[in-house]
Amino acid sequence: MAKKHSHTEHVIGVDIGGTGIKGGIVNLASGEVIGERFRIDTPQPSTPHAVAKVVKQIVDELMGRDHAPAADAPVGITFPAIISHGIARSAANVDKSWIDADVDKIFGEELGRDVQVMNDADAAGLAEARYGAGAGVKGTVLVITLGTGIGSAFIHNGKLIPNAELGHLEIDGFDAESKASASARERDDLSWPDYAVRLQRYFSHVEFLFSPELFIIGGGISKRSEDYLPLLKLRTPIIPAKLKNNAGIVGGALQAAVHFKVAK
Ligand code: BGC
Repeated sequence: MAKKHSHTEHVIGVDIGGTGIKGGIVNLASGEVIGERFRIDTPQPSTPHAVAKVVKQIVDELMGRDHAPAADAPVGITFPAIISHGIARSAANVDKSWIDADVDKIFGEELGRDVQVMNDADAAGLAEARYGAGAGVKGTVLVITLGTGIGSAFIHNGKLIPNAELGHLEIDGFDAESKASASARERDDLSWPDYAVRLQRYFSHVEFLFSPELFIIGGGISKRSEDYLPLLKLRTPIIPAKLKNNAGIVGGALQAAVHFKVAK
């Protein structure tokens, strides 16, 4: 049973990615990150022990700031893998030793506080559904994050259906993220029009499978959306995430706040 926490409108979210780990203090009333984010490169190899140490460094830095949450506030953490009942069930872009790791326990013990761990793209989706581009949209919204891998969040009538792994659809014999992630664009040195061809193949397929009302694009590359989104031809509107690359931090914090009932 979770202990009772003080009421707080500020909760720390930490977003763990394949290349960077970033944290911020989230104002839950507005869904904004207060002040600067704090980022450290993902350690290599990205083993549980090494990653947990970096998350602790980030939380310690943020807790030293003026707008820091209550000392006992839980921390929301996002992780780039299937997270089911606090256990990691995959590890596409992180060290394989994460598979079957008890992520709640690993981070909870390292931080000495309650944590709530969820899939990174699910966190981004939750944040967009509550505060961002998906707010108030009825029906199916798919939030697709283009980064080291491809992450996805399946939202229906504002509710998250967790652990959709649409980055791993097999398309033309390939794992989709190996061709259409932002890191695949960099690896293959693609121009925006060439990258858009790959995105077109990917999004047409996902559109065919799910007929969503809206696609929202997240990940660092959402900042450059004008370079590739206008090149896509889809029935479904496709727009960049409103919270840009902060969506994971915000969604992680929101989920922790809801789970531990710390905010209104
Ligand atoms: C993982 C997902 C994750 C996505 C984005 C994929 O490779 O399987 O769980 O959400 O990358 O980080």
